[in-house]
Amino acid sequence: MPTSAQGSRLVIRPMERDDLAAIHNINTDCLTISLRDHYSKEQLKAWMKDQTLEGYWNRHEAGEDFLVAARNGLVVGYCSWQGAQLTALFVSPHIQRKGIGSALVKACETRAKQKITWLKALLGASDFYEAFGFVIDREGHDVKRGVKIPHVVMRREGKSASDDGE
Ligand SMILES: CC(C)(COP(=O)(O)OP(=O)(O)OC[C@H]1O[C@@H](n2cnc3c(N)ncnc32)[C@H](O)[C@@H]1OP(=O)(O)O)[C@@H](O)C(=O)NCCC(=O)NCCS
Repeated sequence: MPTSAQGSRLVIRPMERDDLAAIHNINTDCLTISLRDHYSKEQLKAWMKDQTLEGYWNRHEAGEDFLVAARNGLVVGYCSWQGAQLTALFVSPHIQRKGIGSALVKACETRAKQKITWLKALLGASDFYEAFGFVIDREGHDVKRGVKIPHVVMRREGKSASDDGE
């Protein structure tokens, strides 16, 4: 699915096994760079310990759909969804604010079998999602390695977030 993000050719395609290392690096970079002003060192450390290369593939095999965005052959972002939930969206901090996150959301919306109606926005990301019609529903958190990781549940027209297990 070639598209254009500020002039460069961006290919958005399903994740392959060979993409796992790139995805993991993007995730780690986002945690250490983009999210350091929003989460404590303790939270980020627990979160990173919780991430493994195989973890992404296991989620995929359990039914979560993943797309990657590649620019000039390099994976620079990824997103995932399951049912009506957008479950992840990460763009390399070195290449953010160039339309890649928006292109990934649009690609999810095109490919998802049902309308994506809710997500858990990481702290600092809710303004980004408002442009896609999501509004803040409530605060929530996940627990990783015994540490609370806060997020903001956002939803848009369709089913209530609570209908999908949140
Ligand atoms: C949130 C994220 C995916 C956005 O990706 P991106 O490629 O930078 O987004 P885009 O370039 O498509 O942004 C489009 C618009 O959204 C808004 N926007 C993007 N990131 C934003 C942010 N962090 N805060 C507020 N507004 C933001 C801006 O209006 C932007 O347009 P502009 O650059 O012309 O001002 C990226 O910042 C990221 O990976 N962050 C770290 C991980 C994260 O928080 N992911 C969300 C998980 S729920």
